[in-house]
Amino acid sequence: MHFLKAAALAGIMTGTVYAAVAGSSAAYAADIKIGFVVKQPEEPWFQDEWKFADVAAKEKGFTLVKIGAEDGEKVQSALDNLAAQGATGVIICTPDVKLGPGIIAKAEANGLKLMTVDDRLVGADGQPLEDVVHMGISATKIGEEVGRAISEEVKKRGWDWKDVGAIRVSYDQLPTAVDRVEGALSVLKENGLPEANIFAAPQAKTDTEAALNASTVVLNKNAGIKHWVAVGLNDESVLGAVRATESVGVPSENVIAVGIGGADSAINEFKKPNATGFYGTVIISPKRHGYETAMNMYAWLADGKEPEKLTLTSGQLALRDNYAAVRKELGIE
Ligand code: GLA
Repeated sequence: MHFLKAAALAGIMTGTVYAAVAGSSAAYAADIKIGFVVKQPEEPWFQDEWKFADVAAKEKGFTLVKIGAEDGEKVQSALDNLAAQGATGVIICTPDVKLGPGIIAKAEANGLKLMTVDDRLVGADGQPLEDVVHMGISATKIGEEVGRAISEEVKKRGWDWKDVGAIRVSYDQLPTAVDRVEGALSVLKENGLPEANIFAAPQAKTDTEAALNASTVVLNKNAGIKHWVAVGLNDESVLGAVRATESVGVPSENVIAVGIGGADSAINEFKKPNATGFYGTVIISPKRHGYETAMNMYAWLADGKEPEKLTLTSGQLALRDNYAAVRKELGIE
């Protein structure tokens, strides 16, 4: 047994120390273990989420167990392992939202309080499982922000919408991905992009390589189009489209792509000496998604304070020349 706990039970605590732990009636910080499971541990966004969750763990003194789970089987074993290690809570970004009912059942069977982050679980009918505490981004609004940034730049460059092709890097099995790209495309269409100029590039996975492959097919089929814009669910998708334009020889000044994320994938692109087709990104907050979710889970486990069922976070557009200032403003340097 943890020393402090043993001491408290034996009634030998000093007044001060006791006061410090009295607020945590259910458990002691050092005894609390929280799992943080993510679908793509190699993606900078998820590394940042973990980094900020670690800050919460240090601040409160609980143990954070980080696990990458790229498929359903790994999710199941992650939940079993966490329980075997004595964890009582888990925050997860699932590799597949349709695993929803299975994840809920497994967490329950293992005595784990469950919160989801980024990707919201759905039931057999495809509808969100609203009883599960979730933090995600305001997908449609952030998509619209992408659409506005692209539209303004199209205007500035004097392009005629009739001659603009739009690559819709899509991952339609994920509702937040659909909301993001549809939000962006709705604004582009409002501004004059013809529906017929939108080309779907379905990616097999939400990473750059899959987006590059999907976008290359679109570009090869439409070699006559001069000006291109690209949207997708994250920076990696949009970067895949940009890499594809480069590989088929479209000059970077003929490409306007805006991503969502603002982590290292975007930053590394902005740091290149010459501007690429990756014009901007809507920076979202790994601090809120990592630190805040972990703090909320801790408060739930330690103090029985159940978090809000649904929290949707916002984003802020950043371009090559101001991304550092925007990150600073968001507290995510
Ligand atoms: C999804 C995407 C990630 C990231 C998060 C943000 O999980 O796959 O790249 O954009 O949403 O919530």
